Amino acid sequence: MAKKKKIRVAVCGMGNMGRCHSDHMLKIDDVELVALYDDFGTPAERFKEEHNLTCNVYSDYDLMLEKETIDAIYICLPPFCHNGQVEKAAKKGIHVFIEKPIALTLERGKSMVKAIEKAGVISQVGYQMRFGNAVNRFLDLVKSGEAGQPMLFSASYECNSLHSDWWRVKEKCGGQLFEQVIHLYDMAQYLMGKAKDCSGRVANLGHKQIPGYTIEDTSIANIVFANGTLGCITGSNCAVKNEWNAKFRIICENLTADFVDQNHATITWTNKNEGSVEIINGTNDVSMMEDVYFINTIKGKNKPFATIKEGFEDLKLVAAVVESSENDGKVVRL
Ligand SMILES: NC(=O)c1ccc[n+]([C@@H]2O[C@H](COP(=O)([O-])OP(=O)(O)OC[C@H]3O[C@@H](n4cnc5c(N)ncnc54)[C@H](O)[C@@H]3O)[C@@H](O)[C@H]2O)c1
Repeated sequence: MAKKKKIRVAVCGMGNMGRCHSDHMLKIDDVELVALYDDFGTPAERFKEEHNLTCNVYSDYDLMLEKETIDAIYICLPPFCHNGQVEKAAKKGIHVFIEKPIALTLERGKSMVKAIEKAGVISQVGYQMRFGNAVNRFLDLVKSGEAGQPMLFSASYECNSLHSDWWRVKEKCGGQLFEQVIHLYDMAQYLMGKAKDCSGRVANLGHKQIPGYTIEDTSIANIVFANGTLGCITGSNCAVKNEWNAKFRIICENLTADFVDQNHATITWTNKNEGSVEIINGTNDVSMMEDVYFINTIKGKNKPFATIKEGFEDLKLVAAVVESSENDGKVVRL
């Protein structure tokens, strides 16, 4: 019997996220990890040794694309390093998974979307929260009409960490909004639909004394969605240490849904069956699920999801919040 053709995957940037996706690739059937790229070489070599792999390691991206036959690539670079890797891969017909934020500038984001669409390759952005049990239960209730009209989306992303060196530098990371709170901005646009306009404020209130910390540690945005729903999203890097909380609450005509995270929520009915409660304690491994989904999309089993175009919509929204803040909180239309 003819051997089934494996999907040949390369991973670019072998830090936290590169390692995480590479681990998953080793566990998914029909996938072969063929190349690892990191500008320092060592993190890629380390992963290869730890897992006793035979794949090739590169510290030159162009050389990797030239030498290897690759079906799909994971771009797990810090955002300031995005300088054409997506565009080059797409041009070669390679499907692209990219970690959020897709870029730091709208120009780069636009160029990525254009390249992906022109090449007709599949893209997916690392928005794993979308795969949560609670998120999907809520979506079912919206689609069936049981939730009624969504009215208010409120969310807060809170942590207290200096993270890595590049993460604290505005030019390298964009800020906490671009880097972390964007998960909640994506939840908002995924569940409520596209934002129409927003206003916001960002500030560094608690880290002025930390040398090199040039990003905001506090943010707030008001959002109006095209369907009329209102939203408010806050971010803080001055909250409880060793916790990373991305909580959100959605008030609809017939229910209020309180999410502790993507897998856990309490849904309280406010109309029909007033006061009755559904508790969702999900166990989805959302990070693994997003990778399985991407590979299955390449195999033709799924529709493209969380595409680079959607990543660009989120980029536009967080950039608009920063623009609003720079203009005294004026409303920015999207
Ligand atoms: N989806 C999520 O929940 C999630 C979580 C954490 C990070 N991320 C995103 O993943 C991306 C990477 O974050 P991370 O935490 O893995 O970063 P990291 O600092 O752990 O790793 C980055 C890796 O890229 C390498 N690198 C740096 N500059 C490079 C260059 N110019 N060319 C090639 N390699 C280079 C570094 O050597 C390092 O190995 C970021 O965009 C981040 O926002 C997503």
